[in-house]
Amino acid sequence: MEANMPKRKEPGKSLRIKVISMGNAEVGKSCIIKRYCEKRFVSKYLATIGIDYGVTKVHVRDREIKVNIFDMAGHPFFYEVRNEFYKDTQGVILVYDVGQKDSFDALDAWLAEMKQELGPHGNMENIIFVVCANKIDCTKHRCVDESEGRLWAESKGFLYFETSAQTGEGINEMFQTFYVSIVDVCENGGKRPTTNSSASFTKEQADAIRRIRNSKDSWDMLGVKPGASRDEVNKAYRKLAVLLHPDKCVAPGSEDAFKAVVNARIALLKNIK
Ligand code: GTP
Ligand code: MG
Repeated sequence: MEANMPKRKEPGKSLRIKVISMGNAEVGKSCIIKRYCEKRFVSKYLATIGIDYGVTKVHVRDREIKVNIFDMAGHPFFYEVRNEFYKDTQGVILVYDVGQKDSFDALDAWLAEMKQELGPHGNMENIIFVVCANKIDCTKHRCVDESEGRLWAESKGFLYFETSAQTGEGINEMFQTFYVSIVDVCENGGKRPTTNSSASFTKEQADAIRRIRNSKDSWDMLGVKPGASRDEVNKAYRKLAVLLHPDKCVAPGSEDAFKAVVNARIALLKNIK
């Protein structure tokens, strides 16, 4: 009798997840996956046509995880092929090339494409996103620095890694952290554990750092009109100094932004009577 009983599966042992890659064409999505799964790098560019699909097994803590990877083509031409693969995804590898500012600026559009395809009832809150700042081996051409990428990622509650599919730097750490985070969500009933769902800095701080970074002169940096009075400059300075003081603000890039604000105030006060 006992022998004929169906064997009870050990609860929570094996898990099947779906992950997708997203990002502009040629940023290195396929190479990142190849580096991790096959431990090799191909320097010749072979554009993904539509979607590449693969299955791999990984271990996280005591669990075996079967990972279905859908590697998407980044070229706009393949939008019609990509769009049906967004649903039922637990993790997204979002890639840009640190030497191509366009590919970094395009990250918001990739999120928007996914959101649109998931429809009004699609919920992206419990999906784990990892941002890969890729091709860090190409140091000469780098134009998006670490703090800028990290600020974008962390202000959205995403993971951030600096990677090179060519040298392998950051790749294993990225996948390991990514899979652990996905398993944490699965083990938490499909919901993100509250502890790591929000950034450790405010939107106001992130916006101020971005504004300072993109400002065209010292007036713009302090957010005052050209020709503002000493009082106005000091008032604007104090507000930013409180917001971004390194003792209070842990947002990526805050130290540089703070220094820039200090210098902007000095420069402006020199010329105001
Ligand atoms: P699509 O499939 O068209 O969306 O592109 P993709 O994002 O999959 O890019 P792919 O992985 O095919 O890589 C594009 C090119 O960048 C290839 O020539 C790669 O050899 C090169 N590449 C990828 N990763 C790196 C890297 O980390 N460093 C350097 N130097 N080159 C890289
Ligand atoms: Mg590809």
